[in-house]
Amino acid sequence: MAEAQTKAFVEFQRVQKSYDGEVLVVKDLNLAIPRGEFLTMLGPSGSGKTTCLMMLAGFETATHGEILLDGKPINNIPPHKRGIGMVFQNYALFPHMTVGENLSFPLEVRKFGKSEREAKAKRALDMVEMGDFITRRPAQLSGGQQQRIALARALVFEPELVLMDEPLGALDKQLREKMQFEITDLAHKLGITVVYVTHDQTEALTMSDRVAVFNDGVIQQIAPPDELYESPENSFVAQFIGENNTLEGVVKEIKNGVALVELDSGDLIDCKPVNVTKPGERTRVSIRPERVEYNKDRLQKGVHTLQAEVLEFIYMGDIFRTRLRVAGNDEFIIKTRNAPDQVRLKPGTQIEIGWMPEDCRALDA
Ligand SMILES: Nc1ncnc2c1ncn2[C@@H]1O[C@H](COP(=O)(O)OP(=O)(O)O)[C@@H](O)[C@H]1O
Ligand SMILES: [Mg+2]
Repeated sequence: MAEAQTKAFVEFQRVQKSYDGEVLVVKDLNLAIPRGEFLTMLGPSGSGKTTCLMMLAGFETATHGEILLDGKPINNIPPHKRGIGMVFQNYALFPHMTVGENLSFPLEVRKFGKSEREAKAKRALDMVEMGDFITRRPAQLSGGQQQRIALARALVFEPELVLMDEPLGALDKQLREKMQFEITDLAHKLGITVVYVTHDQTEALTMSDRVAVFNDGVIQQIAPPDELYESPENSFVAQFIGENNTLEGVVKEIKNGVALVELDSGDLIDCKPVNVTKPGERTRVSIRPERVEYNKDRLQKGVHTLQAEVLEFIYMGDIFRTRLRVAGNDEFIIKTRNAPDQVRLKPGTQIEIGWMPEDCRALDA
């Protein structure tokens, strides 16, 4: 048991994929997913997420490398023998079949008998709270209901692994958020391993145990949501996940774990050196809007501060969002909580801002 838990359930080993024999759309990808994990592949359109899912499902073959399922190479196992459930954004239900028949289909393919099919279909439908809809046809259901049936159909044969490719993309915001919760809840309850694909960062952060951020066929960083947000390892991840302020400059010195950076405006700031190593290197420093301080009492003694001009104040209810001009950047955003004693900054005012050096990350330029 202990061994089964530590061993990867799904593993990509140096996987490459080219459709045309020239361009690699997946480059030397390594990924190990433990049993029971909810892993999300997040990245811009065209970054290779669907291709990875299709190779795992067996609808595409890897050009190089190996994909293992439960320790065994799956290259030669046909898709329907891999025991994988799938849900896609536009994976329509069979329109001429009722809900019950749609659910029965994957069980027929797997040679289950009639009574077993009925029992399993009923259980899967109850799971997504659609038990009353067994005799309806897809056209008689809303988009959200159809997506629940698609989910039930993916789970009905009790797969250990479920792949989902933007399954909520077609739903409106409210339903999407409800389904996000239902899918993670169900996945954890059933203990299934999920590989989920989305380009929506909020969805990725709220649903996943870990998120693999894709860009251009390469995993840029793979980490739990909080780590990804708070400790991005490069500029791409910092920009792609959450809102972020960037300032450009050159490293002047690195001492005692703090990098002194001279911005292109001539200002000096203190940062945490993340992927800069020596003076003279160009860097893009990254700071989250909620980590910027303008209350001097809350700043560490001796840290460098910057002059800023307030350009715009936006009241958002729970927070205040203020746009500043900082070191020549007119899009510098700060967010403050709407506390009773919180200052509402007025456009035109000059203020001084700063931060804890560890909240400001010196990344690749
Ligand atoms: N069947 C295909 N034939 C040729 N090129 C493809 C095919 N599917 C995807 N691609 C290309 O591979 C790259 C990755 O696509 P895809 O895996 O669909 O990305 P994502 O799901 O992240 O949007 C893109 O450049 C896309 O145009
Ligand atoms: Mg895709």
